[in-house]
Amino acid sequence: MKFIPQIKNLTPYVAGTPIEVVAREYGLDRVVKLASNESPLPPFPEVLDVITSKFDSLNRYPDAEARDLRAALAGRYTVEPDQVILGNGSCELLIWLSLIFLEPGAEAVFSDPTFLVYDEVTLARGATPVKVPLDGFTNDLNSMAAAVNDRTRIVFLTNPHNPTGTYLPATEIAAFAAGLPADCALVLDEAYNEYVEEPDAQGGLALFRANPNVILLRTFSKIYGLCGLRVGYGLCSPQVKEAIDKVRQPFNINTLAQAAALKALSLEDRLEERRALNREGRVQLYSGLGELGIGYIETQSNFMLVEIDQLSVPAANAPVELLRRGVIVRDGAALGCPGYMRVSIGTAGENDFLLEKLAELKN
Ligand SMILES: Cc1ncc(COP(=O)(O)O)c(C=O)c1O
Repeated sequence: MKFIPQIKNLTPYVAGTPIEVVAREYGLDRVVKLASNESPLPPFPEVLDVITSKFDSLNRYPDAEARDLRAALAGRYTVEPDQVILGNGSCELLIWLSLIFLEPGAEAVFSDPTFLVYDEVTLARGATPVKVPLDGFTNDLNSMAAAVNDRTRIVFLTNPHNPTGTYLPATEIAAFAAGLPADCALVLDEAYNEYVEEPDAQGGLALFRANPNVILLRTFSKIYGLCGLRVGYGLCSPQVKEAIDKVRQPFNINTLAQAAALKALSLEDRLEERRALNREGRVQLYSGLGELGIGYIETQSNFMLVEIDQLSVPAANAPVELLRRGVIVRDGAALGCPGYMRVSIGTAGENDFLLEKLAELKN
């Protein structure tokens, strides 16, 4: 066997450890997972009912075009159905986008650090990642603009940013987009958009409407609590959808995911409760961390960076010390933020549990 040369440049994505695995390994009764920016709440009950109602049709393939879901999303965003693309999670959309835009010699510009999948999909295509350091904890749009050249085919930009949770105003992104060459796609990844509390939170959508090169990605994985079913979506030009339809596998959104996402979308007015829970969780963590004298980066998302370099254990050991106490977090060092850990904002009880365990590590 002879692998493609890119394989040697790639490393497998390391995901947060599942709760059951940690409970078993450390013999713990209570384990709280705050590692993967998930919703602490399950899907809405109506969504669960729809999922179970579909069990007896699983001998049939799903609708390869996911017509109902695409039509509902098109209605929701006042676009045409041929401007809606779906992925097995928005991660899969990143793969399809890399397939249609990237090849050896092409470049993709993105921040460093950022969501690790941009690097993976770029390298897998034999294209060149051009990584632009953050300005502090925020995407540095001026330096990103300077990194774009006539080989750049994609700019990947997250807002709010992962792993830092910082937010860029819509006007700044619009100015950046205006300076991009016509044959460069701007993939604006808004996986955490529903948690944003800023008044210009829908600015990315306005930018998409005004600019055919903007591809806007969102997901049912986060606030809707459906990451286990894997369904993300994108708004794009009909030309991008047509190209993706040529490379994607035909049944990429399974029957349960299509039905669940469709139902979830119809319950959008209930997201406010979840946004409020996240908002209260942020305040709880900010004040709890403040009382412990632990630094953090303010977030517009459902996760945040917390300083771990002033605890009673070395920063490199802190995530594992928390794991032993039943809290799963992500080590910032693995995400490009040494001295920090990334924690999801949980329920009030989960946040308290984290603060309690952090207090044990604070001398
Ligand atoms: C910035 C960003 N984009 C995309 C995703 C992928 O989400 P999914 O594939 O679950 O839709 C994530 C997941 O954590 C993310 O952080």
